[in-house]
Amino acid sequence: MAELTRRDMLRASAAAAAIFAVPSKAQAAAALPWSTQWDPEADPVSAELLDTGVVPEVNRLLWNWTRNDQPLPDGLPGYLRDFMAKARRVPDWADTAKLERAAQFNKSRGLYLNLLNGVGGGMLSTAIPKEAWSVYYSKGGADMEDRVAKTSLLGFSVGSLNAYRPDGDCIVQAVKTRLVHAAVRHLLQQSPHWKWSVPITQEDILVTWHTLPTYAMRRLRDWQVPISAADSQAYLHVWQVTAHMLGVRDEYIPQTWAAANAQSDQVLPPNMGPTREGVELTDILLGQLAEQTSPGSVSRPLVNALARYLVGDQVSDWDQIKREPLWEPLIATAWPLLVRFREGLIPLPLVPEIAWTLDEAARQYILLFLTKARETKIEIPTTNRPE
Ligand code: HEM
Repeated sequence: MAELTRRDMLRASAAAAAIFAVPSKAQAAAALPWSTQWDPEADPVSAELLDTGVVPEVNRLLWNWTRNDQPLPDGLPGYLRDFMAKARRVPDWADTAKLERAAQFNKSRGLYLNLLNGVGGGMLSTAIPKEAWSVYYSKGGADMEDRVAKTSLLGFSVGSLNAYRPDGDCIVQAVKTRLVHAAVRHLLQQSPHWKWSVPITQEDILVTWHTLPTYAMRRLRDWQVPISAADSQAYLHVWQVTAHMLGVRDEYIPQTWAAANAQSDQVLPPNMGPTREGVELTDILLGQLAEQTSPGSVSRPLVNALARYLVGDQVSDWDQIKREPLWEPLIATAWPLLVRFREGLIPLPLVPEIAWTLDEAARQYILLFLTKARETKIEIPTTNRPE
């Protein structure tokens, strides 16, 4: 992949401006490759907040901005207020009935979805070099527990019953995340460790997006979870709206599952692979998972095997997750049986004992991060990873 610097980014914009002197800004942007597009609305806002030193005050003001329908607090700089007023609007194509249906689907399949998005998505993201580098060298890279808790805020929010309702908080979390991503783009270029192009492009966001709904839906299908067409459409829809709220241009958001699968197959392979940073992050994450579930109930080998089962051998090898010859076949047999039992498709005696250990581990993991997520909030960082 071509390595782009900030200078390349400016040159690309200037070239586009020259070529598209007459057409609209949107047309000009659309003509650029998505790997050279970031977030032209949020990026200058976070850069200005950082350069003028007002981020701590802005974080303080936004701490209690928690509900989708809540007015913005007084005292924000005008340019931030203008950005947020626009960014908080859901797209006009958002369909309330579908969002409600998605909420019900997320609730009924919460255990699988949280495990897939949390553990599975986590392991996939550490095997995406640009993401692993970004996470490692940004502030949160030094405190992965807090980082995961903060990221879970958006994940749990997308999956909650009131996600996009007035009393929900998905809009809040997404708008804050957009500002965080923009701050990360600005800050990482100042890191002595950052040797790569400006991260979190439009393409990068979709790469990560596919490790969430697209990957989860594929695994649910592999496990033969019965899902109605309306439910699967609704689940896609809530993630389409979320992509929009995270600043992804509408034309890049897949319209159908067929388009999502095709786009995922196109963008994931060239954007995945091993890195030293990804291996280290994986080890920290799995270590936490083993420690944090009730002591002694879930050993690190079991956690390794579960992670390997969720993401497969290729990604596991990139992440250097240890092979567990004893546990891997047990999980491969037990998990689908647990799913079939939970879906009412087979009777209890057919479920092996180990399945309940996995079920309990997944539950504890979710509960733990739900609790941690409640104790924290998404904030705009002012620094990179401390040296
Ligand atoms: C921060 C979600 C894509 C790198 C965050 C946060 C959330 C989030 C909720 C706030 C949590 C925090 O401040 O720690 C998402 C979602 C994505 C996505 C849902 C795609 C659908 C990406 C991509 C990259 C990235 C593609 C890098 C290539 C980061 C980094 C931070 C962050 C470095 C801040 C870490 C820090 O300051 O500690 N993201 N993200 N994200 N994200 Fe993303």
